[in-house]
Amino acid sequence: MSSTIRTISLSDNEAARAGEMLRRGGLVVFPTETVYGLGANAFDAAACRRIFAAKGRPPDNPLIVHLTELGELRWAAREVPPLALLLLERFSPGPFTVILPRSQRLPAVVTAGLDTVALRIPSSPIARAVIRASGVPIAAPSANRSGRPSPTDYESAVEQMWGRVEAVMRGPACEVGLESTIVRICGAGAEVEVLREGAVTREMLAAAVRGRGELLDPDETVTGEAAAAAHAEPTTAASAPAIGPAIAPGMRHRHYQPDAAVITAEPADLPRVLQTHDRNQTAALMLAASAPGSGSGGFRIEMRFQTVEEYARELYRAFRQADRSGCSTIIAELPPPGGIGRALRDRLLRAATA
Ligand code: TXA
Ligand code: MG
Repeated sequence: MSSTIRTISLSDNEAARAGEMLRRGGLVVFPTETVYGLGANAFDAAACRRIFAAKGRPPDNPLIVHLTELGELRWAAREVPPLALLLLERFSPGPFTVILPRSQRLPAVVTAGLDTVALRIPSSPIARAVIRASGVPIAAPSANRSGRPSPTDYESAVEQMWGRVEAVMRGPACEVGLESTIVRICGAGAEVEVLREGAVTREMLAAAVRGRGELLDPDETVTGEAAAAAHAEPTTAASAPAIGPAIAPGMRHRHYQPDAAVITAEPADLPRVLQTHDRNQTAALMLAASAPGSGSGGFRIEMRFQTVEEYARELYRAFRQADRSGCSTIIAELPPPGGIGRALRDRLLRAATA
């Protein structure tokens, strides 16, 4: 449908041109510190509608609106609760998104008709230069086709979006590699609920709100549905719920899935799981510390990450590499659940759920 657009490649010093294209209603893919984003002018309903077409994203899944500074919050939010402001001041610019009451200036298509809007101020200098040059808030989901892993480098952004957008900006591989942390404020303004885990970790959030509010435990969250929506990469409009926007139960959606089947293993189980698969068909992703030593070679792809941060940064690239080299299976070690390990486990477990 939208696969016939003439796409140009922009270098990372062409932010002014990218901003101009965005302001005039174009779609531009650009790097951020988390993943590559597929941007459009958030004030332009027609441009934002084109995002959904380019991704194959059902219209019930709202977009994140990107800004460059706190002073621009009023472009998109009608109110900023004190606890939200505290978190924004602490974690912006950075891989952090907060849900706020939506300003009427934003067209309904951006928020899928919700009364709330997701806002993020990225730290990537390239992303910031592009957004600043546009002069408007930029709606930008991850630049993947719906249901696929987010692109974390230029090549995979091109692979997924060439012919569907006006421009793809060439930038470095993303520093974080996983999508931003998403939170919302609830409980009469005193509670913080994590809807999507990310590089702003639960430990960081808990420390920031201490004395001012409470970080809800994952199992005492108000509703799992909002969290499901924050992960949704629904594959077809037909699967959208008839009852309303952004409350789609996560179960009916695919998430972050490569073509190869993902099998996760706790470190203790890893050697056994590795033994039971055809090495020639398998990509093995593991932490160097727990990777089995001798006799473990022979996998089509074998990656040993020195740190959990490196594992997170490389995860989606590893998925893509496994698919490109024809692996049928990806065996992925589950990292410990502290810090960004929690977000990484979350993405791995979602990818492993067919
Ligand atoms: O790191 C990121 O956040 C990247 C980069 C490009 O900034 N963006 C990103 O956007 O991951 P996207 O659209 O792929 O994921 C945003 C998630 C969606 O699953 C959506 O359901 C959720 O945020 N979301 C957006 N607005 C929401 C709202 N008002 N309430 C609840 N969830 C919302
Ligand atoms: Mg996404």
